[in-house]
Amino acid sequence: MTAPLKILAVNGSERDGNTADVLRHAATAARRRSVVFETVDLRSIRMERCGPCGDCNDRTAPCAVADSVPGVVRRMVEADGIIFAAPVHGFGTASLMQTFIERAGVGYLRFDRPLSNKVAGVISVARRYSAGEVWSQLTANALLNRMIVVGSGFPATVHALHRGDALKDEEGLTNVTRLVERMTDMIELLAEHRRLTGRDDLLPAGEVNERVGLALNETKVAV
Ligand SMILES: Cc1cc2nc3c(=O)[nH]c(=O)nc-3n(C[C@H](O)[C@H](O)[C@H](O)COP(=O)(O)O)c2cc1C
Repeated sequence: MTAPLKILAVNGSERDGNTADVLRHAATAARRRSVVFETVDLRSIRMERCGPCGDCNDRTAPCAVADSVPGVVRRMVEADGIIFAAPVHGFGTASLMQTFIERAGVGYLRFDRPLSNKVAGVISVARRYSAGEVWSQLTANALLNRMIVVGSGFPATVHALHRGDALKDEEGLTNVTRLVERMTDMIELLAEHRRLTGRDDLLPAGEVNERVGLALNETKVAV
């Protein structure tokens, strides 16, 4: 029996608020399609900020900081699809998600791009301002990781100020539903391809370690 398809959502909000409500809405849409839907709340994990070391620019091996981030990276690698969801704070991405992008992206993912060809979806939640900018930033990071970003028609930006407001933004939630539907379609298509061909290399991930040739001390570090 094949394992059920799985979407993992990463929630960058500090509270069980609008972003969490939107992800519960997304989970319902996924479960309608028999997709397992799990959420990592970044507020509940142990996550250090990037320190001053800058080591990851000078080597070809992952970050050495011991916290929960490598565990979340492992969960992303195990999933078929990943949703990055964050509120807008100060016209930018809320700091928990920004920290996660720095720690996971630069600390772990930049070496051999283990999320290549996973299906990505992006959701931003804002009262109104810079919802598009944050959505674009998170999308650029998914593309950087060679993920397959599917469209939802209009971007999945949800407008909400007070707790509970997200569930009143019908158009935003429609876009979230469509995002999950299309992610599921793409995940199923890729699974069917793997089943029919026994191959996982329709879209080759590329070179094995992106940092080789860029890292100053690479000869001193075991890869
Ligand atoms: C510190 C802070 C900064 C915010 N900055 C913005 C902003 O720049 N633009 C905007 O439209 N909404 C802004 N908001 C509103 C939130 O994006 C909005 O309330 C959102 O629904 C919060 O999601 P949450 O309940 O998941 O935390 C801000 C909220 C906070 C707490």
